[in-house]
Amino acid sequence: MKIGLVGLGWPGQQHVRAIRENENDAALTAVCDLDPEKLREFEGVCDTFSDIDEFFTRADMDAVILAVPHQLHAKLTLRALSLDKHVLIEKPMARTSEECRQMIEAAERNHKTLMVAQNWRYTPWCVAAKSIVESKELGKIQAVRTEWLLNFRPSFPKGSWIYNGELAGGGAITSLAIHNVDALRYIIGEVEEVYTNELYTDDWSSNGAENWAMCQFKFENGALGHLFTGYTPFDPPDNGMLYVYGEEGTMFFGKYQGENGLWIRSAKRSVDQHTSYERVDVEAFTKGFVTHPQTNQLKHFIESITNQTRPETDGREVIKTIELVEMMYASGNKGIPMKKDRKIGPLL
Ligand SMILES: NC(=O)c1ccc[n+]([C@@H]2O[C@H](COP(=O)([O-])OP(=O)(O)OC[C@H]3O[C@@H](n4cnc5c(N)ncnc54)[C@H](O)[C@@H]3O)[C@@H](O)[C@H]2O)c1
Repeated sequence: MKIGLVGLGWPGQQHVRAIRENENDAALTAVCDLDPEKLREFEGVCDTFSDIDEFFTRADMDAVILAVPHQLHAKLTLRALSLDKHVLIEKPMARTSEECRQMIEAAERNHKTLMVAQNWRYTPWCVAAKSIVESKELGKIQAVRTEWLLNFRPSFPKGSWIYNGELAGGGAITSLAIHNVDALRYIIGEVEEVYTNELYTDDWSSNGAENWAMCQFKFENGALGHLFTGYTPFDPPDNGMLYVYGEEGTMFFGKYQGENGLWIRSAKRSVDQHTSYERVDVEAFTKGFVTHPQTNQLKHFIESITNQTRPETDGREVIKTIELVEMMYASGNKGIPMKKDRKIGPLL
C-alpha cells in the first residue's frame, strides 16, 4: 500500500516508524509538512511537499495518514476521501461529532476506509486488560479510575493552537484524556451518565480549553468511574494509569515495585491476596502484536482495507467517543450531570 503522510511532529514520526516496520505491506511514498526542516530527512527517500494542495494533486498514494492539528482533521479527511484515498486520522477524530458525521458520510459514499488512531486499542497492555475484564477474572466490575497527566508546555509554547479550544476542539480532555475516554468505552463499556465536577483553566488556555478536568461516570453495566487529567502539571512522576476494581480482583496499569506493567491480584490467582500483585503476561493476550502500538495499528489499517472489513476504530465506533467527550464538556459547562441522549448514540 502506497502511503502519504501529512504532519511530521512526534506522532508523524511514529507513523513513519510503523510504515517501516510494516515494510512488506506498506511504502511511504510522500510526506507533507509546512516546515522545510522536517522535510529534509525525507529528501531522496520519498516525495516531499511543503504545500498541502500540491501534496493532494501530485502525491502517488492509496492512503493518507493525517497527523496534523485538530482544526485540520475534518477538512483534510474530507479532501483525501474526495480523492478516493483511504484515511488514517490521528486522535481526536475531529473537534465535534458533527464534523465526525461528515467524515463518516464521505467515507461511506466513496467506499473508503476511515480509521482513527486511538492507539491505546493497539497497545498490548490495553488489549490484555480488555480480555481480562471480559474473562470475568475480576468478577463484576465495580469501579474504574483513570488519569493522564502530561506537561505540554515544553512541547507547545504559549499561544499554540493546542491551548485554543476553538482550534483544538477542547482542552486536556480532547487533546490528552481522549485516550482514556476511548479506553474506558473499550475496556469497561458504554457510559450512561457523566458528571464533570471541574473544568479548570488559566491564561494559557482560551476559547473554552481547560488545563485540568475531573469527571465522574456511571457505566451502563453499573460500574462507577473517575477521570482526572491535566496538560500543564510540572513534571509529573507518571502520566497514564488505569485501575479496575472488580468484586473478585483488582487490575492496574502503572508502576509497581519499580516496574511498569499491567498488574493483577485476583481471587483466582495463587499470590497472597493481601500484599502482592502478579504481572500480567500481556503477550499471551496479544498474539501477533509488537510493542510499538502504531505498528500494530497500521497493520490493522492495511488488513481492514485489503479484506474490506471494519477497523476496530472506524468512524462509526470512534464518533461515540467524541459524543461522550461532548457530554463531558456539556456537564462541566452546565454544572449538572448529563445522561446519555439516546438520539445522538447510534449514528445517521
Ligand atoms: N496518538 C498519540 O499518541 C498522539 C500523540 C501526540 C499527538 N497526537 C495527535 O497528532 C496530531 C498532531 O499533533 P502534533 O503534536 O504533531 O502537532 P503539531 O502542532 O506539532 O503539528 C504536527 C505537524 O503538522 C504540520 N502542519 C501543520 N499544519 C499543516 C498544514 N496545513 N500542512 C502541512 N503540515 C502542517 C506542522 O508543521 C507540524 O510539523 C494531533 O491530532 C494530536 O492530537 C497523537
